[in-house]
Amino acid sequence: AGAPVLAACGRSATQTAPTQAGPLGLTFPGTFVFGAATSAYQIEGAAAEDGRGPSIWDTFSHTPNNVRNGDTGDVAADHYHRWTEDLDLVKSLGLGSYRFSISWSRVLPTGTGTVNRKGLDFYKRLIEGMRERGIAPVATMFHWDLPQALQDRGGWENRDCASWFADYAQVLYRELGDLVPTWLTLNEPKTVVQVGYQFGAHAPGRRDTRASLVVAHHLLLAHGLAVRAYRAAGGTGRIGPALNLAPAYPVDDSEPAREAALLADGVENRLYLDPILKGAYPADVVATWAPDEPVRAAIRPGDLAVIASPVDILAVQYYNPVFVTANGDRAQVKPTSEASWQQIYPEGLFDVLTRIKRDYGDLPITITENGIPVDDAPDAAGKVNDGPRVAFLRDHLAAAHRALQSGVRLESYHVWSLLDNFEWAEGYAQRWGITYVDFATQKRIPKASAEWYRTVATSRRL
Ligand code: NOJ
Repeated sequence: AGAPVLAACGRSATQTAPTQAGPLGLTFPGTFVFGAATSAYQIEGAAAEDGRGPSIWDTFSHTPNNVRNGDTGDVAADHYHRWTEDLDLVKSLGLGSYRFSISWSRVLPTGTGTVNRKGLDFYKRLIEGMRERGIAPVATMFHWDLPQALQDRGGWENRDCASWFADYAQVLYRELGDLVPTWLTLNEPKTVVQVGYQFGAHAPGRRDTRASLVVAHHLLLAHGLAVRAYRAAGGTGRIGPALNLAPAYPVDDSEPAREAALLADGVENRLYLDPILKGAYPADVVATWAPDEPVRAAIRPGDLAVIASPVDILAVQYYNPVFVTANGDRAQVKPTSEASWQQIYPEGLFDVLTRIKRDYGDLPITITENGIPVDDAPDAAGKVNDGPRVAFLRDHLAAAHRALQSGVRLESYHVWSLLDNFEWAEGYAQRWGITYVDFATQKRIPKASAEWYRTVATSRRL
């Protein structure tokens, strides 16, 4: 502990030395950091160990018909017991940054109140393990696994949930603040709103659009309160939100299609970016809310000032664009991956990154997720050839590089994911890792993409 700056860590002499371009003719600057990402419920397992309280994902996954094949995160990739091996893997891949999440209900089993030492100590050891290996920790405080006890008190529909989150954040700042240079408040609030509360395919499995908008506001408020608490605690690192952004394109050049795409952009992106970075909800989206829409009453005087508390960094997660027809429907224009919602369009990443600079200012950006599921498996020789993933990562990194060249302050890139893991409603059926996990034996096998990524990360060439 006490080692100074981690922002600069993980960079070896070879990484900062001038390099020649790679096959695509691209070289990343010496300051650019390559990393990988995971989240607690998706990899840890040990669901009932060391005092961890249940989260809404335990409840949801243990309820029949919610998750494919009835899979749960009870064991997942057993990272809780294998974290040293996993950090060694991050290091062996030559990565300088590791983005993980902290399970709220490990630290506070019922969401508020007394700290569970054993849960907290797990993260302390994990973070110290990163620092010992020269890997910069990027800690997400909420990656969807709300303590069940808080759901029982209304969860994100209850305004108090924003304060419960800020209290939990303060515990983390107090206990881990000196060790973590980069904090991310919420992971993909949009997914909680849309998939958790509108479509019901994620925990808590609600189908209630009116409630989903209230939830959106309370999530944003939680983010803002946690940023404020960080300043009040004298935090010396950086803090920001992790937003999944999906550029919205009209399917054709007609006026109605362009208008529909603009509104889709509001719902997908500006609904989160505008309050956080501009202190106002987007007027065109607000105009679609009914006069008696409950979210209108949920937004109280002063809330937007809290939500817009200045952030130090914006974490961007990019998977796909949306293409919008004149009547507002979504259309498939590009080929999809194994995930039906994912149309593959690397240009979208360039558009998202340059748009942030254009519309929201020149703030530092980290890409905290980008990746693709591939139906891969070891061949007879034990090798996992995930060619489509290599192509996907290469093309998206090239788009990121182009954004860098056009002046975006892009600092780092984290591939989703370090490991195959529990892909929420898809269970273990979708493999997103650059490392294959045999869930029967918990053996890890770096895939072809991992070997490829190591070369990119250590040579800085693409
Ligand atoms: C975004 C989420 O943050 C992550 O948990 C999920 O696994 C990936 N998308 C892939 O769907």
